[in-house]
Amino acid sequence: MRQTTSVSRYRYSGSLGLVVFFAFVSSAFAQGGDVTFARDVAPIFQQKCEACHRSGQMAPMSLTTYQEVRPWARAIREKVVAGDMPPWHMSRTTGIQKFVNDISLTTDQVQTIARWVDIGAPLGNPEDLPPAKAWPSGERWRMGDLLGREPDLIVTSTPWTQPATGQDQWWQPVVDSGTTEDRWIKAVEVRPTLEGRRIVHHGNSALAEFAVGKSGEIYPDDTGRLFEAGEKVSFDIHYHSVGEEITDYLSVGVWFYPKDVVPKYVVRHSVMGVFQAMDTFDLPPHTVTKHHAFIPLEKPTRMLSYQPHMHVRGKSMSIEAIYPNGRVEMLSHVENFNFNWHVNYVYADDVSPLLPAGTMIKLTAWHDNTSANRANPDPTQWVGWGQRSYDDMYHAHVRYIELAEEDYEALVRERRRAAAGDSD
Ligand code: HEC
Repeated sequence: MRQTTSVSRYRYSGSLGLVVFFAFVSSAFAQGGDVTFARDVAPIFQQKCEACHRSGQMAPMSLTTYQEVRPWARAIREKVVAGDMPPWHMSRTTGIQKFVNDISLTTDQVQTIARWVDIGAPLGNPEDLPPAKAWPSGERWRMGDLLGREPDLIVTSTPWTQPATGQDQWWQPVVDSGTTEDRWIKAVEVRPTLEGRRIVHHGNSALAEFAVGKSGEIYPDDTGRLFEAGEKVSFDIHYHSVGEEITDYLSVGVWFYPKDVVPKYVVRHSVMGVFQAMDTFDLPPHTVTKHHAFIPLEKPTRMLSYQPHMHVRGKSMSIEAIYPNGRVEMLSHVENFNFNWHVNYVYADDVSPLLPAGTMIKLTAWHDNTSANRANPDPTQWVGWGQRSYDDMYHAHVRYIELAEEDYEALVRERRRAAAGDSD
């Protein structure tokens, strides 16, 4: 290996950048030859793009064959290197890195795609192509696949017909659930109709004040939230036109714990920072700003997920923990915030933040009101806190559970044991 590196260093002498770059794509080179679509790129697209980029799905073009992909090569390079696609905007260099719903590319994969475009996006040997990926033809519940059963309750939004052309629409119906008894929720998922996937930009549903993103969520063992008898479900759906009239509704699938089971821990939801943001948010013209909000935790807390919220001038948002002993830890930093994507970052169980009572959460939000921000409709405007898309704001939707002191201690010990085991 060392020898190969020095050979390429001679061949590309003078270009240190290339040598470093080679280290990244070594996996492709190890198989011999330069990067090709058939062997190196197609498997990545199957794994990381086709879920949305195939016919009938939400993305504007299909990326399942070389013929489909080739015209997009430049755009793909740009979006992938900028971290815009896949839509996962979490920093790779700071904070917790393990999430249950991670759809991002690895650094290796980004480099492979970039290199492939740089050398002219060759097909390579068609015999290297992986077999086409079989996608389920009908509608499936992802949480249903995880739990092995269909939802116990399905609530649908009032249908909306989006015209062939026209402005984006925000549709916010509130629907009766029709339930007659209190039940504890284990998992929730929201999905549009198959047809509607093309026009739904994002769809959220709120059950008991919880916004649920597209992918849905499933709670750890013995953890749930209460769905009260007769509770209403509200929707917040962003539709856009695609050149054809389409009628759509969203379905929310809910999986309950068995009737007699009351989970020990209640999932709570906090809109962190919203009051401080209302009080202090101030975004002058032609300026990049940084605002902070501080939220004290009174009880030992396990954070389950983090979803930053800002509007079109939002640029980044981080969440840090200031521990009672003064130590500061970066939990998560969404570096490359994009208003069009409401991504809820769900921590893996073994790394979800365990925070002692007395921890202070510190949020930092950056907004870019300059012309460098391509989403900015008008950098000459002063912008204040408000609900309209062209006002701005910042807060973080955080799901968490409060732990009894002894359970918190036990979890911390368990993590320590696991960490010690890892380093043996
Ligand atoms: C969760 C769904 C999703 C995934 C996964 C995803 N995309 Fe996308 N992609 C979209 C949607 C929706 C758009 C159009 C809206 C936008 O750009 O935000 C888009 C836009 C794009 C564009 C810009 C198209 C244009 O009109 O300029 C490119 C290029 C792209 N995606 C490439 C990729 C690649 C490559 C991958 C995999 C490595 C990927 N995407 C993964 C949903 C997705």
